Amino acid sequence: MATTPKPSSERGIGTVAIRWHGSSLELLDQRLLPGEEHWITLEGAAGVSQSIRDMVVRGAPAIGISAAYGVALAARHAGGGDWKAEIKQAIRELAASRPTAVNLFWALQRMERVFHACHSLDEAVKRLAREAEAIHEEDLAANFAMAEQALEYIGTKEAISVLTHCNTGALATGGYGTALGVVRRLNEKKLLKEVYADETRPWLQGGRLTAWELSRDGIPVTLNADGAAAAIMARKDVRWVIVGADRITANGDVVNKIGTYSLAVLARHHRVGFMVVAPSSTVDMAMASGADVPIEERDGIEVREIRGIGLAPEGVSVFNPVFDVTPASLIDAIVTEKGVVHNPNMTGMRALFG
Ligand code: MRU
Repeated sequence: MATTPKPSSERGIGTVAIRWHGSSLELLDQRLLPGEEHWITLEGAAGVSQSIRDMVVRGAPAIGISAAYGVALAARHAGGGDWKAEIKQAIRELAASRPTAVNLFWALQRMERVFHACHSLDEAVKRLAREAEAIHEEDLAANFAMAEQALEYIGTKEAISVLTHCNTGALATGGYGTALGVVRRLNEKKLLKEVYADETRPWLQGGRLTAWELSRDGIPVTLNADGAAAAIMARKDVRWVIVGADRITANGDVVNKIGTYSLAVLARHHRVGFMVVAPSSTVDMAMASGADVPIEERDGIEVREIRGIGLAPEGVSVFNPVFDVTPASLIDAIVTEKGVVHNPNMTGMRALFG
């Protein structure tokens, strides 16, 4: 029996990406969407780190949750000899899977604290599974709380259109969404006219995932090429750009999917609000600014090809950073489950996150 938290399905959300069964983890293979809904079953931490690296599962909170279950699996399947060394090695491998989203390291640190407090393998198996489930449940609860905070902040009484980037929905989180959680809540309250979804080159999270997950829940989504965002802001009545984050630093800079920074510049030019929605597990107060954050660069093949079909001359040199840094000065609000930082800067961030 899966023990995955259920509240999002009770709220009519048709998408789940992570299913926990106690001795195995199932991940919906996001590389195959929207064409195929295929679940991968994992029984060890190595498979989980590989799945994070290969983007079977992606999105900052979902990566953290999966890694936590990975540690729980490492305990569950530890040989019984030097079980502590086995779990430590699993944590190291999981930490090396992707570098940018801090939720991964945050979740692993939480798991590591519990692990260090365990005196036997039996205790570790139980407590690590419970901790991973708690991380999953808390993320879902944070999603709901952020959506409420954001709606209060937006404060609209009439239906509005918004624009989003990448995929920040049920597929990327514990089950409701960060930026897409706000979109869902606007829709639930009949305050959403339209959400424009950037297709999000090169991995196409917007086209393959956001458009899929929103359409199956009946949320009015219009897909656009990334390059159309300026024209949309100029010609359509978009009030807010709403995005998620992979890491928010102590000065309020936001590291998120490549292309987010351009959207923030465009939004400021067009006087459109720019909102970042992320749980506090995405906040990294140990990093002074976005310039310090390691930005993942992925294989150029992601830009040169799509599913084996060449889009550019074979072997052409490609620069493929998959995240960028949006300076705090371009952001109107960072919404977390702990509250909203308006016009973020070091002082505002410290007031909320210490
Ligand atoms: O490379 P990805 O797909 O893992 O990147 C995901 C993003 O950049 C999301 O915007 C971010 O993780 C927030 S998800 C709630």
